[in-house]
Amino acid sequence: MTEDIKKGLLGIVVDETEVSKVMPEINSLTYRGYAAQDLCAKCKFEEVAYLILNGELPSEKQLKNFEKVERKERKLSKTLLESIKNFPKKSHPMDVARTAVSIMGLEDKETKDNSQEANLRKVMRIFAKTPVALAAFYRIRKGKKIIKPKNNLSFSENFFYMCFGKVPEKEIVKAFDVSLVLYAEHSFNVSTFTARTITSSLSDIHGAITGAIASLKGPLHGGANEEVMHMMNKIKKPENALNWINNALDQKAVVMGFGHRVYKSGDSRVPTMREYFSKVARVKKDKKFEKIYDIVEKVMIDRKNIHPNVDYPTGPTYHLMGFDTDFFTPIFVISRITGWSAHILEQHAANKLIRPLASYKGNSYRKVVPLNQR
Ligand SMILES: CC(C)(COP(=O)(O)OP(=O)(O)OC[C@H]1O[C@@H](n2cnc3c(N)ncnc32)[C@H](O)[C@@H]1OP(=O)(O)O)[C@@H](O)C(=O)NCCC(=O)NCCS
Repeated sequence: MTEDIKKGLLGIVVDETEVSKVMPEINSLTYRGYAAQDLCAKCKFEEVAYLILNGELPSEKQLKNFEKVERKERKLSKTLLESIKNFPKKSHPMDVARTAVSIMGLEDKETKDNSQEANLRKVMRIFAKTPVALAAFYRIRKGKKIIKPKNNLSFSENFFYMCFGKVPEKEIVKAFDVSLVLYAEHSFNVSTFTARTITSSLSDIHGAITGAIASLKGPLHGGANEEVMHMMNKIKKPENALNWINNALDQKAVVMGFGHRVYKSGDSRVPTMREYFSKVARVKKDKKFEKIYDIVEKVMIDRKNIHPNVDYPTGPTYHLMGFDTDFFTPIFVISRITGWSAHILEQHAANKLIRPLASYKGNSYRKVVPLNQR
């Protein structure tokens, strides 16, 4: 009998969720019913993080309390900080993020407690400490002094401050905040599904997020924003873009930052991020990457009818902000911790072990020949 194999779980609905949905009627990604671009326009990232984790937008008082907890939890333990100092300087920052969250799991007093209350407390610790751990590594590998977090700065401002020692222009901070909002959640993508799968064995949240980070690292997922920058660096200048992309397509190359498993006629997050990419380019007085962006996008749509995904505009935006290319996907991590966590909480609340079947194509039954007779 031939079994009906759904490779890549294409089109398979495996569970229910209340966290997010791409709503075709408004052609938009929505978090808890709110369009992501509406949230970008009216909220800062902390409000959206609260929404994703708690189901509703916060009141002023709730937001203040949420921010107070996040800021209080920013401090890293001595062990974690010492470990980061000892990591090989050439480590990929995604591996640093993954290992840092894993170490947090060793240290957390509530690691074994999978209750919703304990999980929410643990989320706040992972959410607050991961950017601090990453920024520490950012400085250490450049031989620079680590900058401690500042509690009077917002989540985004603080990340810039810890990496660069100063908070940039407000347009830059807003663009970064917008990118975090757009990266925060996207339903059953591969890293979220990984987190839910790990959770489904009733494992803990640090393990689930560690696994999710490993999954996000891949170039077919979060790693695409870094690949976009490598591509733009190869293209070098707008005059080369047309030839470069046409050659790439002639050679049947996969062009990073294009295509999506869910969106087939355009990622609803792209227009917002494109707008902020433009604002950053204006502040930085550097239009080169925008020109390359437009040429490559036009060819991809004209020749292949494949549209950009959100990693296409975030790559050059982070570059213009001054981040090293291998920090682009870690920035995605510090945002997506919120979405992963909401799914982990949801999975614990109505768990069913995730255990699909496979169609066996190996040897038929055979007897073991003892070692001296093989
Ligand atoms: C995201 C992605 C993995 C989705 O994959 P998918 O839903 O499995 O779709 P497929 O890979 O089967 O693509 C369908 C067709 O479009 C082509 N295609 C899809 N994305 C493409 C891209 N970025 N560049 C060139 N061709 C692409 C495929 O080659 C395939 O063509 P074929 O039918 O002639 O074989 C895929 O689009 C991709 O690899 N994109 C680049 C990586 C990226 O930007 N990832 C971030 C996602 S948010």
